[in-house]
Amino acid sequence: MNLSNNSSRKQKIIILVGVLIVVIVAAFFLLTPKTMAESPQPVAFTHQAMVKLGVDCLFCHETARESPAAGMPSVAKCMGCHNVVDPTNPIIQQVAVYWKNQQPIPWQRVNQLPRFVYFDHAVHVNSGVNCEACHGDVAHMTIAQPVVKMDMGWCLSCHEKQPNASQLMDCDVCHR
Ligand code: HEC
Ligand code: HEC
Ligand code: HEC
Ligand code: HEC
Ligand code: HEC
Repeated sequence: MNLSNNSSRKQKIIILVGVLIVVIVAAFFLLTPKTMAESPQPVAFTHQAMVKLGVDCLFCHETARESPAAGMPSVAKCMGCHNVVDPTNPIIQQVAVYWKNQQPIPWQRVNQLPRFVYFDHAVHVNSGVNCEACHGDVAHMTIAQPVVKMDMGWCLSCHEKQPNASQLMDCDVCHR
């Protein structure tokens, strides 16, 4: 009597643990944002090294306060430092080849909205939304990686919390 009770209790516990594992695994996949695969970049650039030095985001992404696009740094900008910083590093020599050939580095886009969506960096940055709110902790990344799926639901979930939400939820704010 005691023995069979014990083993049926064990069975119950095993089933319970099994169910729990399934729930945890399912929750993990459902709740973690879909991070897309790290896009291979032509040069293994390191945000972490640069930001640790105290180089500001806007030093390289110059137009984020002034225009819809944040902008990408020119090869000249990289070489402004790397002419003297670490010039024998193989990665830097790769950059130097682009410089010598006067070619831009063909960086792959990490975040890209469909063409029918209008987005403006300047409006966001100047109204106090910081880079991290949308791009995550880039300062601790090597090459940038997407941290959220930038779909309509994501845009709206922040717009609906703004004081002027009624205007910001209008379709033609983003679809012009
Ligand atoms: C303000 C000066 C400055 C600018 C501008 C700059 N870098 Fe750097 N970079 C540095 C310094 C300093 C280091 C750190 C070197 C070290 O730790 O040995 C570094 C490190 C790196 C590294 C890491 C090397 C490694 O071995 O991991 C890469 C790659 C790199 N830079 C590429 C670039 C590229 C590409 C650009 C242009 C988009 C750029 N840097 C612009 C100063 C600069
Ligand atoms: C409100 C969200 C948001 C904020 C805040 C934001 N970004 Fe972006 N960023 C985006 C979106 C969305 C895209 C994709 C835009 C597209 O495809 O048109 C993007 C694209 C970019 C790009 C790609 C190239 C380009 O020219 O746009 C860079 C670089 C970038 N952001 C850097 C920054 C930096 C640096 C900051 C802070 C100064 C910043 N972003 C703040 C949402 C944001
Ligand atoms: C020294 C120059 C430099 C600095 C400083 C810098 N970046 Fe970048 N950033 C780059 C380069 C080069 C790339 C392209 C390679 C990559 O995707 O990581 C890039 C890519 C990005 C992208 C992805 C663009 C896309 O295609 O969607 C984002 C977002 C971004 N940076 C945000 C930031 C933020 C936020 C900071 C400050 C914390 C910052 N960057 C500081 C040079 C820089
Ligand atoms: C983290 C919060 C946040 C996120 C995420 C966000 N926005 Fe915004 N957005 C704002 C704020 C704040 C303003 C400025 C509100 C104001 O003062 O008018 C704004 C304004 C705008 C405007 C300007 C409206 C005008 O008056 O011209 C556009 C366009 C816009 N957002 C598009 C987008 C799109 C597209 C996305 C998603 C890809 C997005 N936003 C994601 C906070 C956000
Ligand atoms: C704050 C910005 C924003 C506002 C406001 C907005 N959208 Fe969007 N919309 C987006 C973004 C970003 C996408 C990109 C597609 C995605 O969701 O991945 C999109 C995509 C779409 C699509 C294509 C869906 C698909 O699966 O391809 C339709 C249709 C659409 N929006 C309709 C609307 C309508 C109707 C409204 C007004 C009720 C509206 N949107 C308001 C940002 C916005």
